[in-house]
Amino acid sequence: MSKKIFSGMRPTGKLHLGHWVGALSNWIELQKSHSCIFSIVDWHAYMGEYEQSQGIKDNILDMAIDWIACGIDPEKSILFVQSQVPEHLELAMIFGCITPLGWLERNPTYKEQLREITTRDLQTFGFLGYPVLQAADILLYKANAVPIGEDQLPHLELTREISRRFNFLYGKNVFPDCEAILTQTPRLLGLDGRKMSKSYQNAINLSDSADMVKAHVKKMFTDPKRIRLADAGHPEECNVYAYYKVFFGEKCADVYQWCTKAEKGCTDCKMILAEVLVKNLLPIQEKRQELLKNPQRIREILEEGRKKASAMARQTMAEVKEVIFK
Ligand code: TRP
Ligand code: SF4
Repeated sequence: MSKKIFSGMRPTGKLHLGHWVGALSNWIELQKSHSCIFSIVDWHAYMGEYEQSQGIKDNILDMAIDWIACGIDPEKSILFVQSQVPEHLELAMIFGCITPLGWLERNPTYKEQLREITTRDLQTFGFLGYPVLQAADILLYKANAVPIGEDQLPHLELTREISRRFNFLYGKNVFPDCEAILTQTPRLLGLDGRKMSKSYQNAINLSDSADMVKAHVKKMFTDPKRIRLADAGHPEECNVYAYYKVFFGEKCADVYQWCTKAEKGCTDCKMILAEVLVKNLLPIQEKRQELLKNPQRIREILEEGRKKASAMARQTMAEVKEVIFK
């Protein structure tokens, strides 16, 4: 039996190159050979942004458009909005009852976010339970594999622990064990070399115009040891080269050569990268424009997804209640 795949993304704003390279490209490959369920997890966005929740609605439609423009195929995969299937919250509540507080308080991702994010108050009951809802997302569909980034591994570990604990408590294998599927592509860093993120303003968005892409690439940090044009560069220490490796395929050898032999300066090298990126983004942006003309169609796709997801969710919840109250 082919594996069942589930993954989700929070609708917190425009998608950037990091989302595309780090997650979507993986999803698009997986959907060729597996049954996939992809969810726009708006309750997870809400957990962090409950004080400013008004943007979430627009971001949902935008995210669906970006996904489809990148190649997520609604004929093959199920696309739906988490809050439209209330069973996610129902199962999360049940998992919340069986999850020891210590598991959540120890979670490194949680601790890091409390430390890093100072502009929002995340010391809430809901936010501590973020991975519990994530476990519910995955297990509601009995998914066996979850394509995620490395930062999400602790959450997946918790999902496995919750699944096992549930099965153990009620003496029945209701939920499967699930594994992470990590992307093969190296992670793309932001323009300044930090993690690419909207909140650091160091991202190139999938919808950025050619001029914006050029302006962004101009700002990129390069090999700090290459000071003069005549100095040989160290491509492996340069973020620009890391981008080439993702988007320029075999022609990277040319970049390696012109950098290490000091045949081209960094300004030229960056302008060529900008063109490469613009070319890569063009098909996505054209598809995006086309989809934007008919937002009603996107809503229909999400409604079809909701129906399919709901049917599975109802079935799992019936089983869950059956074993709990037997
Ligand atoms: N926490 C994930 C992230 O921030 C998003 C997410 C929510 C998710 N539910 C999920 C990912 C279920 C995979 C499976 O990236
Ligand atoms: Fe980086 Fe290109 Fe400059 Fe080499 S030439 S250091 S790869 S920007």
